Amino acid sequence: MKRYYLLLTLLLLSIFTITTQAAEKSIHKDYQHAQWDPIHFQPAIATASNEQCLGCHQEILDRQVLIKSPAGITAESTKAWYQTLTTYEGAQQTFHQRHLSSDFSNQVMNMQCITCHEGNNPREEAIIPPDQNQTQFTLRKSVNPETCLMCHGNFPDYVRMGLPSHWNESRDIFQNNCLLCHAGIRNNRHQVNFLKAEAIEKAGKENADVCFGCHGGRQWYRISYPYPRHAWEGMAKEIPDWAKERPTESHPRFQIPANKISKK
Ligand code: HEC
Ligand code: HEC
Ligand code: HEC
Ligand code: HEC
Ligand code: HEC
Repeated sequence: MKRYYLLLTLLLLSIFTITTQAAEKSIHKDYQHAQWDPIHFQPAIATASNEQCLGCHQEILDRQVLIKSPAGITAESTKAWYQTLTTYEGAQQTFHQRHLSSDFSNQVMNMQCITCHEGNNPREEAIIPPDQNQTQFTLRKSVNPETCLMCHGNFPDYVRMGLPSHWNESRDIFQNNCLLCHAGIRNNRHQVNFLKAEAIEKAGKENADVCFGCHGGRQWYRISYPYPRHAWEGMAKEIPDWAKERPTESHPRFQIPANKISKK
């Protein structure tokens, strides 16, 4: 009798370990394997979908801001200067939510994890001690700040635009409307995989803060992004000196296949 019990226990034990091992393999990778998953590196990351990343990083969208800071200041009562644009809505959200799931971001953008995250190797992170000549190394978790500059740079050179001063001072002269000029100038724009070009034009017609927001209104840098200069209908043949170095197409990483471009 005893022997049967022993055999039965052994049998049950082995079934249990086999099934749990299989479950672990199919659902969860261990921490090391997950951290070193090829999806974090080129070339796999270049084509990864949000769903794939969120499969392990759902917290990126679910995590909420603190209702109250440890010092007792409520998130509700706190507004930063970049949260005073007329496009800003709703309660405080996290950085990732503001780029991926806020109503406004979904209206005008089609951001992917890989728009910002291009992969970084934890073994190739910042040199210690810091060395300014070793710029090929990125800081841990770091994203190339040029990506941010596209939408968080300074308002472009106002003299070049033919404005008497920065938009903050001159907007009233131009009826607070970028399209007064930009209906006809540099109007071949925003055909990139992280923006919703048509929706931007529609929203920009109603409210110039939509345009200004990404071109000076949420400025994190002193400089302005050197935007590619796409040819537009009626453009002068002569290229001005300042534009001679400019690319005439968006960065290859962001281009949309020609057959999918929407012409307005
Ligand atoms: C198989 C699960 C898994 C997948 C899929 C995955 N990650 Fe990760 N990721 C991890 C783990 C585990 C870490 C290490 C976390 C840590 O060290 O705190 C990590 C680390 C990171 C980090 C650095 C975080 C830090 O605190 O250092 C970033 C950024 C990141 N992942 C982004 C992404 C992006 C973008 C994708 C999609 C292209 C992705 N991950 C897909 C599991 C995954
Ligand atoms: C607007 C650009 C942008 C987008 C889009 C973006 N991230 Fe990030 N992410 C960042 C930046 C910047 C950091 C902080 C980097 C640092 O600390 O060096 C970060 C940090 C992280 C971290 C580590 C820190 C943390 O908060 O846990 C993870 C994991 C991560 N991102 C995953 C994702 C995933 C998954 C997606 C897509 C669902 C995504 N990110 C989309 C810019 C972005
Ligand atoms: C494609 C344009 C775009 C890019 C690229 C972009 N942002 Fe933003 N960012 C936005 C928009 C639009 C908002 C406002 C979203 C809203 O009001 O809901 C915003 C909001 C923010 C905010 C304010 C969030 C808040 O709590 O109000 C910060 C901080 C920020 N971005 C930093 C960054 C950084 C850092 C990067 C680069 C890693 C980056 N952004 C890349 C468009 C962009
Ligand atoms: C008085 C007319 C006028 C108004 C109003 C105007 N712009 Fe411009 N803008 C121009 C001209 C002219 C250029 C340069 C065209 C060229 O490439 O030759 C320009 C260029 C730009 C560029 C590209 C800059 C670069 O370095 O490549 C951006 C971005 C831009 N404008 C955004 C805006 C936004 C956003 C507004 C409203 C907040 C606005 N503009 C209002 C005339 C105007
Ligand atoms: C969500 C952020 C965002 C909004 C909103 C936005 N832009 Fe842009 N804009 C960009 C980015 C990013 C680029 C560069 C895209 C690329 O690489 O081709 C750009 C490029 C431009 C250019 C250069 C065009 C070229 O390629 O020659 C002009 C001009 C411009 N925007 C004007 C506007 C105007 C006018 C509006 C409102 C109708 C507006 N933008 C709204 C992010 C934005």
